[in-house]
Amino acid sequence: MSKLNINSRITLNDGTQMPIIGLGTWRSEPQKVKEAVIVAIESGYRHIDCAALYGNEKEIGEALEEVIKRGVVKREELWITSKIWNTHKRAANVRAAFEKTLSDLKLEYLDQYLIHWPIAFEFAGIELKDYACIVPREESGKIAKVDFVPFKETWGELEKLVEEGKIKSIGISNFSVTDTCNLYAENIKIKPAVNQIEAHPYFTNTRLMQTMKSSQFKEINTVAYCPLGRGGENAPISDPVVIEIAQKYSKSPAQVVIRWALQRGSIIVPKSVTPERIKENINVFDFELNEEDMNKISELGKKRKRAVDPIGSWGISVFED
Ligand SMILES: NC(=O)c1ccc[n+]([C@@H]2O[C@H](COP(=O)([O-])OP(=O)(O)OC[C@H]3O[C@@H](n4cnc5c(N)ncnc54)[C@H](OP(=O)(O)O)[C@@H]3O)[C@@H](O)[C@H]2O)c1
Repeated sequence: MSKLNINSRITLNDGTQMPIIGLGTWRSEPQKVKEAVIVAIESGYRHIDCAALYGNEKEIGEALEEVIKRGVVKREELWITSKIWNTHKRAANVRAAFEKTLSDLKLEYLDQYLIHWPIAFEFAGIELKDYACIVPREESGKIAKVDFVPFKETWGELEKLVEEGKIKSIGISNFSVTDTCNLYAENIKIKPAVNQIEAHPYFTNTRLMQTMKSSQFKEINTVAYCPLGRGGENAPISDPVVIEIAQKYSKSPAQVVIRWALQRGSIIVPKSVTPERIKENINVFDFELNEEDMNKISELGKKRKRAVDPIGSWGISVFED
């Protein structure tokens, strides 16, 4: 493993270079996210993980405009990812959804655009202004799920946006092996560069990561979401094993969990709106976990505790394992 540092990037299968740590922004309240993004960029983050779903891209756009104007960073030094939502999967809606995200973020191009989930809901307007637009329901209360939007229909539009120079890198999120095989079977021109999936010490997702990275899929890199297991008392950052290791290295449990993820080759997007934590989470380049401690943390994966599963919220089964 070459020595990791705050500027480390991973070269993806499309030749783009993605910073290994990004700031997550899911559930970052619109009134807090602007400051969070500014603090992050001033602290050395060069990668921000966004999505239309998160309802805060306008405020993130204000932050990006400010730091670029102030000369803290140049646009080309930043890596901005966003994601297309489940209601926007039809070819007719893809470009409008993308343009809305681009204009909210006040950008001319995106570094990366992902298909957020391998499922489609009925179109309910480009603006995701309330929950009824995000998860539309039939009169019966059942989610208005569309059973068949071929992946190619969405992906083909993303490929055109890449050809036009409006997106540098495209990828998938929450795709299983079967979903990814189905996407490849549709004769796509550009292979996905990343699959953004849940991974942390309580749900290591090792097999899916390894399969994605194999030659079968032309080396799809993993971006690990919920790298802190969503934080709090029941998360890996409160686990006695992690706390003990943190004490040994004089680092915080969050720093240990982040370091573990980086040493196993993930790109990660820890979320925080708390300035001290934002700085803490990127201050992970002055120590290295030894093999024994890496293994002790990986062992916690036996718990197989997911933080995100649409079965609970939507009653829809997405995952294979
Ligand atoms: N593609 C997808 O479907 C998908 C799904 C889930 C997440 N994501 C992406 O992944 C990002 C990260 O996942 P996540 O936000 O669910 O969870 P996470 O990053 O694992 O954890 C975030 C939680 O941990 C707290 N926290 C942050 N740093 C901490 C520290 N140093 N010490 C103690 N607590 C700390 C945060 O609190 P404060 O903010 O209050 O500081 C927040 O409550 C998301 O924001 C989003 O960008 C993508």
